Amino acid sequence: MNIQSDLLERFDSYLMENTPKIEGFHPYFQKALDEILKAGGKRFRPILLLSVVDACSPLLLRNSLPVALGLEMLHTYSLIHDDLPSMDDANLRRGHPTLHVTYDEVTAILAGDALNTDAFYVIANAPLSSEIRIELVKILAQNGGSGGMVIGQAIDCEFEDKILKQDELEFLHLNKTAKLIAASLLMGAVICELDENSKNAIYSFGLKLGLLFQIQDDIIDATMSSKEAGKPTGNDEHKNSFVNLLGLKGAQEYKQNALKALHVELNKLDKNLAVRLDTIVKGYFNG
Ligand code: IPE
Ligand code: IPE
Ligand code: MG
Ligand code: MG
Ligand code: MG
Repeated sequence: MNIQSDLLERFDSYLMENTPKIEGFHPYFQKALDEILKAGGKRFRPILLLSVVDACSPLLLRNSLPVALGLEMLHTYSLIHDDLPSMDDANLRRGHPTLHVTYDEVTAILAGDALNTDAFYVIANAPLSSEIRIELVKILAQNGGSGGMVIGQAIDCEFEDKILKQDELEFLHLNKTAKLIAASLLMGAVICELDENSKNAIYSFGLKLGLLFQIQDDIIDATMSSKEAGKPTGNDEHKNSFVNLLGLKGAQEYKQNALKALHVELNKLDKNLAVRLDTIVKGYFNG
């Protein structure tokens, strides 16, 4: 078993045991929440966080699991809301019917709300120093909220069928996707108490990795079946996706250039960490 699949297995078994336990007599709210969290997904963000910890301070790995879970909870909330009829109107996620399809829109909205709020509770209770926990909460809030994922999603929806300029397109995708991915790595670096220069280099690498991740996601929408992707594809028709703006070939070229740029950033990182992240890049992007 390679290190990455070992981390994935550890994270997934932690998640299975530690999803929020809901009190009360709602007939299916707990089931809805468990369904989407446990359905799988690549767990890309928690694996990034845990890989940094494993490379830099492996003894802290176990105490980092709640932080990785909080991160995945916030990401999962963003997916539930992204799929709502008022946003991307998607009926499939992680190979399962979306929550608003299986249950109802109210459940989907509130399951997202619960995961968003509970994410911070889980991180605030992690067995780490209070200074580190505050820093982690701040980073996740800054990159996942109105200064990151949320404003990205708002622009993504507001500018459907309105073509953005290249710098606006980059702003959209940096916020919508890249900042949360960069935050995942930075949160790992904060847990390990790395110095400012290392944290800056890791965050800057993460933004490039995040942009690449969204380019790849846009290519998936244009090239894969919904069965392969586990979510509807051919769904970006009205979006400012990289494929719509650059064409499929253009997006694939952009991806190759982004991969090269990523390797430049990778070489600025600590050798041990760079090797680990290079394995992840190769695994996800065939590059
Ligand atoms: C999909 O995220 C949304 C984007 C930011 C592109 P993922 O591709 O990480 O979705 P899961 O977690 O694997 O389901
Ligand atoms: C959504 O991007 C990014 C989020 C912040 C959830 P997409 O709308 O492209 O994600 P998919 O393709 O539905 O997973
Ligand atoms: Mg979307
Ligand atoms: Mg979507
Ligand atoms: Mg997409």
